[in-house]
Amino acid sequence: MSEPRFVPPHPPREAVAAPVWRGLFGERARNSVYGWSQKAFEIRHIRRQVLRFTVHIPLDPDAVQRVLQTNAANYAKPDIVKKLIAPMIGKGLLSADGDLWRAQRRIVAASFTPGAVESVASIFASTAEARMAGWPDGSTGDMAAEATATTMTIIADTLFGGDPRLKTPEAMHNIAASLKAGGEVRLSAILGLPPVPWNRTMRAGQRAQKELRRTLANVVRDRLPDGGDDFLGQLISDLHDRFSPAEALQLAVDNAATFYLAGHETTANAVTWTLYTLAAQPDLQEQAAAEARAALADGEPATLADRLPLLRRVLDETLRLYPPVPRFDRQAIGHDELSGTAVEPGDIVSIWPWVLHRHKALWDDPDAFDADRFLPDAKAKQHRFQYVPFGGGPRVCVGMRFSIVEALVILAHWLAAWRFQLPPGHIVRPVGTVTLKPDGGLPLIRTRRD
Ligand code: HEM
Repeated sequence: MSEPRFVPPHPPREAVAAPVWRGLFGERARNSVYGWSQKAFEIRHIRRQVLRFTVHIPLDPDAVQRVLQTNAANYAKPDIVKKLIAPMIGKGLLSADGDLWRAQRRIVAASFTPGAVESVASIFASTAEARMAGWPDGSTGDMAAEATATTMTIIADTLFGGDPRLKTPEAMHNIAASLKAGGEVRLSAILGLPPVPWNRTMRAGQRAQKELRRTLANVVRDRLPDGGDDFLGQLISDLHDRFSPAEALQLAVDNAATFYLAGHETTANAVTWTLYTLAAQPDLQEQAAAEARAALADGEPATLADRLPLLRRVLDETLRLYPPVPRFDRQAIGHDELSGTAVEPGDIVSIWPWVLHRHKALWDDPDAFDADRFLPDAKAKQHRFQYVPFGGGPRVCVGMRFSIVEALVILAHWLAAWRFQLPPGHIVRPVGTVTLKPDGGLPLIRTRRD
């Protein structure tokens, strides 16, 4: 008899959609993956009026493909999102559109080729090793915090020349505070309120953002005029070649902030959720650990990630159930039609990996964990746009390969040396803001392997 599949607990689902106003208060406002109706995971398209916005949520992969790829020119980053994130990441790659986006994408692409990622894989490995050296055998530790500290060090060391100002506990605290406030700032923008921070979370978020932005501006200024030959240095000099000095400086700080923020929180969540799904399935964890030990013992560290096919499937399946970016948005420029529903200029189109990845029409037993969904034959039968943890089309995550290799290398080093267990009775609850995290972190018991 085959083992029952592991079905991680998910937020409760109501039979029908709740009225929109309930989404503006309480748990629904704080946690974007809470309060979905069962129906949302069964239908092809959701169209709702959220105060002054018409919001579409396409749940048919053909429609998702149309928004992100085939008709991508009709869908820009929403004005409201640009306004929300401007104080932090300005007009950097993540928030720019049109020619400004294209010019920046071209500049940074060279730093994320497979060869460029391979060349920094040894930094992924040494950082993971250094971090685990601090864990007492048999101790319980918050693996969400461990993963964040590790990926933060990696991004500072690989892209920013190891600048110590980007690796401090204060920087980590400021990032967490900015992201936590993100949901509430969004709510105030939806309500059409001026960007006045009305509670402690928002005030703390605004302070944290200012401090981060100031630190990054100093990091960039200290590199002028030449830059240097790492990612930041190259970015500074390439921007200088294409833009006026003032614009180039502004965009350098915008992109430093973009890559610093987008480049580590997300990967930290991928590592955290994978540790969770493996801690909950001890047999699978043993298999992944054995694979990791063999892969570490045998061959080039730079290509370690290629020798971890089981761990890669576990990571892919974890990103299906726990997409680190649970939603991302566009705004229609002109008229369009998605799954037979008219889209008007100005309408918001939200892509929801959290819902698409658990949709009943797209996945068999969608809430259950099954890494075999990502065996080559099974994967070949999936629609490219039913699984979008990294987005898709021309704006697909530029750091996708970087983060997959990084997550696999960190996990391989940790799993080869340690066994991870959930504390008895501990229930993990996902909370979605800008990213998707386990509420209160992820305490795991760590036992050293022989
Ligand atoms: C597991 C880790 C990651 C996940 C799940 C993730 C997810 C995403 C998603 C969904 C998008 C598309 C957003 C949209 O279309 O609106 C995106 C874009 C982006 N990501 Fe990632 N990301 C990850 C890691 C990284 C890393 C490591 C970096 C940089 C080092 C990075 C930098 C970016 C940037 C700059 C963009 C904007 C690209 C553009 O618009 O051209 N991400 N990411």
